[in-house]
Amino acid sequence: MKVVIKRMEAADIDAIFEIEKSAYGEHHWSKESFFNELQNNIGYYLVAYEPTTKTIVGYLGSWMIVDECHITNVAVDLRLRRQKIAEQLIVALINHCYEQFIKYITLEVRVSNIPAIALYEKFGFKSIGVRKKYYQDNNEDALIMFTENIWHEKFKTVYNNLVGRI
Ligand SMILES: CC(C)(COP(=O)(O)OP(=O)(O)OC[C@H]1O[C@@H](n2cnc3c(N)ncnc32)[C@H](O)[C@@H]1OP(=O)(O)O)[C@@H](O)C(=O)NCCC(=O)NCCS
Repeated sequence: MKVVIKRMEAADIDAIFEIEKSAYGEHHWSKESFFNELQNNIGYYLVAYEPTTKTIVGYLGSWMIVDECHITNVAVDLRLRRQKIAEQLIVALINHCYEQFIKYITLEVRVSNIPAIALYEKFGFKSIGVRKKYYQDNNEDALIMFTENIWHEKFKTVYNNLVGRI
């Protein structure tokens, strides 16, 4: 599904919160967390919406820290998964990273989260280690994933191929 990507605004948070609850169940962020993140100077938050109905169908959050981007959250409406919405959000994030001269993109992901790990691997993220019992709700380990330098040809080739296929 072709979506339009824009910066997240406070008015989007009710719709985002519905997706957040169904995506993460009892481990979801609160509305306050989203409001706080919109005030965070290093935060860069995006939403994806369907252009005809303007319905919000997914979102992505990140922090820009010097030359690194850290993905804090990404989720897509349960009913609209596997339609390359997350891919389009990550492409938009990477474009922003190039504009901001970011070199690396990183994140933590639950070791059990196969869909998310597969999504990041598709963009060339590699697992560089584990943070033991990182998630306090169930003591699950986090996989630490990193891109290589996004300015290197190898990353750009994977990225350009994906952009061409969306
Ligand atoms: C992870 C998530 C954001 C993916 O969103 P999506 O829009 O369905 O993903 P896309 O359609 O863009 O998929 C892109 C690629 O990711 C991988 N992928 C996505 N869902 C997958 C699944 N269920 N199983 C295996 N691979 C999957 C595939 O490589 C896919 O490419 P392909 O369809 O060409 O095979 C979505 O499943 C989600 O919201 N999950 C709950 C929240 C979450 O866990 N977020 C990650 C926190 S770190």
